[in-house]
Amino acid sequence: MLLCAFWVLFHFLGFYTVSGASCDCSSVVIPVHVDVLVPKDPTDEFAGLKSNASSLRRVDDTYDIFGVFCRPDVVSPGASVVQLLVHGFTYTNQYWSPPVEEFPELLLRSFLYPTVAAAVSQVAFHLKTASIVSGVPPFKKVIGIGHSAGSGLLNFNAIVDGPQSIFDGLILTGSLSVPPDTLPPPSTLTPAQDDTPLRWGTLDPGYVTTSNRSMFYPADTTAFSPRMIEFDDFTKDVGTVSIFEQTAITSLTAQYTGPVVKIVGSEDQLFCTTGRCVNVTALTASERVGWPAARSFEVVVEQGNGHDMNLDFKAQGPFNTFVSFVNQFSGL
Ligand SMILES: *[C@@H]1O[C@H](CO)[C@@H](O)[C@H](O)[C@H]1NC(C)=O
Ligand SMILES: *[C@@H]1O[C@H](CO)[C@@H](O)[C@H](O)[C@H]1NC(C)=O
Ligand SMILES: *[C@@H]1O[C@H](CO)[C@@H](O)[C@H](O)[C@H]1NC(C)=O
Repeated sequence: MLLCAFWVLFHFLGFYTVSGASCDCSSVVIPVHVDVLVPKDPTDEFAGLKSNASSLRRVDDTYDIFGVFCRPDVVSPGASVVQLLVHGFTYTNQYWSPPVEEFPELLLRSFLYPTVAAAVSQVAFHLKTASIVSGVPPFKKVIGIGHSAGSGLLNFNAIVDGPQSIFDGLILTGSLSVPPDTLPPPSTLTPAQDDTPLRWGTLDPGYVTTSNRSMFYPADTTAFSPRMIEFDDFTKDVGTVSIFEQTAITSLTAQYTGPVVKIVGSEDQLFCTTGRCVNVTALTASERVGWPAARSFEVVVEQGNGHDMNLDFKAQGPFNTFVSFVNQFSGL
């Protein structure tokens, strides 16, 4: 079972694979071509999906996606599945963010859901059609695993690409459908330049971050390490207001035909505080409405985990769940 594999960074979103074993990693740059229509109004909550032609503009551009391709030290013969993980809003990997600090202008202008989601698709396409590093053949299957806004991006692709999606399965973590007008106000975000002037003082105020990270953890502070939240604070990144405001796309319908699972922590302070995650049968029924064509659809509520289910003391539970769904979705 190939567990470690591919890991790339945008500024506020990254793609990487989970790893259970020690990995052999190397840096790669994947040029992707994106040709999409984006809303002229960057705060359009449906990211242009409900817009008429006159309120859209075209983005036709090429981006270099920096990444790290990792594989286990011991690769099983015939390994042909890669996991492409997309992390969420204001998260990134601290080791790889410096190279992309050069593109703030570009990010602010173009980085709406349609652009980033198309780039994610292109990366997946590349993983299936090209050799990512010498000696590694193209992968037969790509499972998309998202967290939070990263799940939103995979969801956006599933809406746009439907049955033609490049992904062989979707594992959407830390993301439930958010109807329009139910988003928390953007005032929960802090302009990055005010949050950390030394690091982000020159950024446009459209770049924001989450100053207080505790909402990403369970309310019970014994459920996670105080050092983890410190680490989180040191390594946090920025996002744009537009991406935040486009979260309502998660309430639209996707005609995606592959298997889908949504995984959420019972203590997720962004999604579960209203009691929404207590009755899993009811939650599954309401979330399934957006995925009428999915080959299979499940919702898993991980007991005790917060929004950042990978970062609290109970992380092993969700981690095992991801692995079992990757196996199931790739027919292993
Ligand atoms: C297109 O959408 C915009 C913004 O919602 C609206 O003002 C305009 O009237 C629409 N145009 C047409 C032709 O429907
Ligand atoms: C962060 O928010 C939590 C919960 O709202 C609060 O208890 C805590 O004091 C806040 N931390 C800081 C440093 O403001
Ligand atoms: C959970 O929701 C289902 C479907 O709405 C309902 O039939 C069932 O009675 C609920 N279970 C509990 C324990 O409330």
